[in-house]
Amino acid sequence: MAFFSQNDTNVSLLFVLLSQSITTIMTKLSVNINKIATLRNARGGDVPNVVKVALDCESFGADGITVHPRPDERHIRRSDVYGLRPLLRTEFNIEGYPAPEFIDLVLKVKPHQVTLVPDSPEQLTSNSGWDTKKNLEFLTEVLEAFKNAGVRTSVFVSADAEMIEYAAKAGTDRVELYTEPYATAYPQNKEAAVAPFVEAAKVARCLGLGLNAGHDLSLVNLNYLYQNIPWMDEVSIGHSLVADALYLGLERTIREYKNCLR
Ligand code: PXP
Repeated sequence: MAFFSQNDTNVSLLFVLLSQSITTIMTKLSVNINKIATLRNARGGDVPNVVKVALDCESFGADGITVHPRPDERHIRRSDVYGLRPLLRTEFNIEGYPAPEFIDLVLKVKPHQVTLVPDSPEQLTSNSGWDTKKNLEFLTEVLEAFKNAGVRTSVFVSADAEMIEYAAKAGTDRVELYTEPYATAYPQNKEAAVAPFVEAAKVARCLGLGLNAGHDLSLVNLNYLYQNIPWMDEVSIGHSLVADALYLGLERTIREYKNCLR
């Protein structure tokens, strides 16, 4: 005896197709855990444990984990990167300036994604995108090394059409839009704040690039960015998310950030 009628089968098929298309357009939340490492390093011990926090973020709903190892290891250490790699179940993104040691680390660890950031070692945090035109040759060479190793690549850029075009010329798979100017302008005029990012996102889409975004995104400004650019592949968020977790707890915070991406 057949358990399903033809109608049931059609409904199930429709459901599968619908859920597949929902999955395709989902913007992933990658949690940057550098601030967790900063807190741990303040006391020199292993509290909080960076790997445990990353695994908890995953079980609370994060779609990925981002780390930004710097040469002085003031946040994430090389040993953290090696420790995380075999245990993470979601996407692992390593971001940073492609100095020889960084390239070597990424090629050894082989994360799902590497994001190239133009920051100097002493910088407090990333504060600009690449000049992809000026650095075209360098970026092309570095991106090729990562692509040959099977690591997806992303280049951190401002919302600037020319910089995105040159990132595409260099051969990147994705660009990550530097959203600090959006976050800063948002409280005064959110329409004006988001407009250049929508334009930049369209340029990236026309060039066939994947699209990430990050820096200073928060529970205040994330949903509006998502509403205007729902085809973003991933947002990477650290500072505000960890600050919110002090009040809301990590589990609820991650749930609330995920809710901003619906
Ligand atoms: N993306 C990049 C390239 C970054 O350098 C950072 C900061 O480390 C972030 C995203 C996350 O920014 P925030 O900590 O402000 O959320």
